[in-house]
Amino acid sequence: MALRQIRLDSDELLRKRSREVIEINSNILTLIDDMIETMHNADGVGLAAPQVGILKRIIVVDVGEGPIVLINPQLLEGFGEQTGSEGCLSVPGVFGEVKRPQTVVVSGLNPQGETIKIEAKDLLARAFCHEIDHLDGILFTDKVIRYMEDE
Ligand code: NI
Repeated sequence: MALRQIRLDSDELLRKRSREVIEINSNILTLIDDMIETMHNADGVGLAAPQVGILKRIIVVDVGEGPIVLINPQLLEGFGEQTGSEGCLSVPGVFGEVKRPQTVVVSGLNPQGETIKIEAKDLLARAFCHEIDHLDGILFTDKVIRYMEDE
């Protein structure tokens, strides 16, 4: 495993749409391992492949219950609404309030290539929404209602 460099929001690559993963080969599995290590090393709760310069539809999230990997993730449903503070490893030092669904249902492939479906709420729901947005070139700063003065 290796740490990968996290791209900052000045990098236009973060504004591009990522492509579906067609085959989960050894390169993809190495990328996933590196993404988890990079996320943990940076104390983040989520990371999307474009943030390490790879325009593929892969996200990892960890809200303290262990890493969850989703390949070709889809946001199937969202219920309710929550407003809370959000940040991003690609936008260091910036925090703002963003509205997200309270509960989401997401699906995707796990690293074994099996389809998984997860119902998530609160912070985990927020993390999934934030990371899936990255795959479509959307940053949380596009959605901030109010910026925080301090962390
Ligand atoms: Ni982010």
